[in-house]
Amino acid sequence: MNRLIKITFIASIFLVLSFSVAAQDFFPSAYPDRIILTWSDDPKTTQSVTWRTSSEVSDSKAQLILAPNTPIYLEQVETLEAKTESLDVDSVLANYHSITFRGLKPATTYAYRVGKEGTWSEWLQFRTAPEKGTPFSFVYFGDAQNNLKSQWSRIIRQAYSNMPKAAFMLHAGDLINRTQDDAEWGEWNYAGSFINGMIPSLATPGNHEYDSEEDGSLVLDYHWKKQFSFPENGPKEFSETVYYTDYSDLRLISLNSQEIVVNEKSMETQKVWLEKVLSENTQKWTIITFHHPIYSSGTGRDNTEFREAFKPIFDKYKVDLILQGHDHSYGRGRNLPSGVGNQDPEAQGPVYVVSVSGPKMYNLTMTKWMDRAASNTQLYQLISIEGDRLSYGAYTATGDLYDAFDLIKSEGKPKQFIDRSDKAIQEAIELTPGSETKMTAEEMAEYMRTYKKNK
Ligand SMILES: [Fe+2]
Repeated sequence: MNRLIKITFIASIFLVLSFSVAAQDFFPSAYPDRIILTWSDDPKTTQSVTWRTSSEVSDSKAQLILAPNTPIYLEQVETLEAKTESLDVDSVLANYHSITFRGLKPATTYAYRVGKEGTWSEWLQFRTAPEKGTPFSFVYFGDAQNNLKSQWSRIIRQAYSNMPKAAFMLHAGDLINRTQDDAEWGEWNYAGSFINGMIPSLATPGNHEYDSEEDGSLVLDYHWKKQFSFPENGPKEFSETVYYTDYSDLRLISLNSQEIVVNEKSMETQKVWLEKVLSENTQKWTIITFHHPIYSSGTGRDNTEFREAFKPIFDKYKVDLILQGHDHSYGRGRNLPSGVGNQDPEAQGPVYVVSVSGPKMYNLTMTKWMDRAASNTQLYQLISIEGDRLSYGAYTATGDLYDAFDLIKSEGKPKQFIDRSDKAIQEAIELTPGSETKMTAEEMAEYMRTYKKNK
């Protein structure tokens, strides 16, 4: 074969191979994967864990031990049988296993592994929640949604390296892009890898975790309840999507905003439930998460009815912080009508945040309500609570501080808001790539005026 023919031949084989490669599959095997910590009960004394295997494995187990400084000696470990459920979705048949470790000591590190003889996972560690009054921190992510393996991985790993002792990771919906797509959940788990097995996740569903039936009723992604064990203390019909968890001095509440925005009855049910949960709340700090922002940071994405129904409740019970997603941009501001910025340090309503952790980007809204905004920037947030102080920081993919504020409570005085964004890098407000094909020159000029004027 002469040289030219040889090169052409090799190039054609390469072309055939590159066109025949499908998206990466994440098929289950006998070895446990997708190991995820969540809480279905009290974080001080329980820890739930879920994992996946191929459908042939029907007798998976977990082993647990108080994490020793010595190597782990098997005669000292406790072995527990898992509950196993089958899931056949997107042409992938798998078994999902779950266990809730109970009777644990607060503020204590345990080691565990899952599987069975011959297929055990590595030993992983978690730490139970401390008693009330103990400082702690957690991570909050806006939508991951797209390019989970190739690009969202950069954010979750940077977040972990910035705060490896985070108490939990909160996902504000749209964890994946296509409902019931098993490979996307494979990518989400690949990006989180061992971090998901060491730091518990909490999540609220977004529109991309739902399908609609012909009659308009919503179907939650089948992976949700199999791979997460969230508290079942919400309304029955929104089990594991509407719930609350108490951790140290925080009550964290998840609302199901997809149900709220498409169904009036669902909105009413969640309103009644939220009033009850807030009226009985004795925790010092209250944070609520849901996917669709009631103050939108994206163009043409306002949720007026949702805002009118729930904002009075947030104000009445002095909720501290609202963590949202959906708009693929960043916005942080106070408690004012849409289109009005506010730096009032004594406003007593919640601070509202919209954020995005994945690489899909939208332009910022023209009706600016945010004191700090970002376009075209992937972010994660670290939130710390220590006694009367809540400290918030938003960080970029390289770990630069993008936004920061503190909330301070003192007996008998209004809550204090301290803007610390002067410590952060310059505000990113540029139009997202491709805007010139979607916007008129006039719209683009107005956008730049809005954001430059407000800087
Ligand atoms: Fe969304």
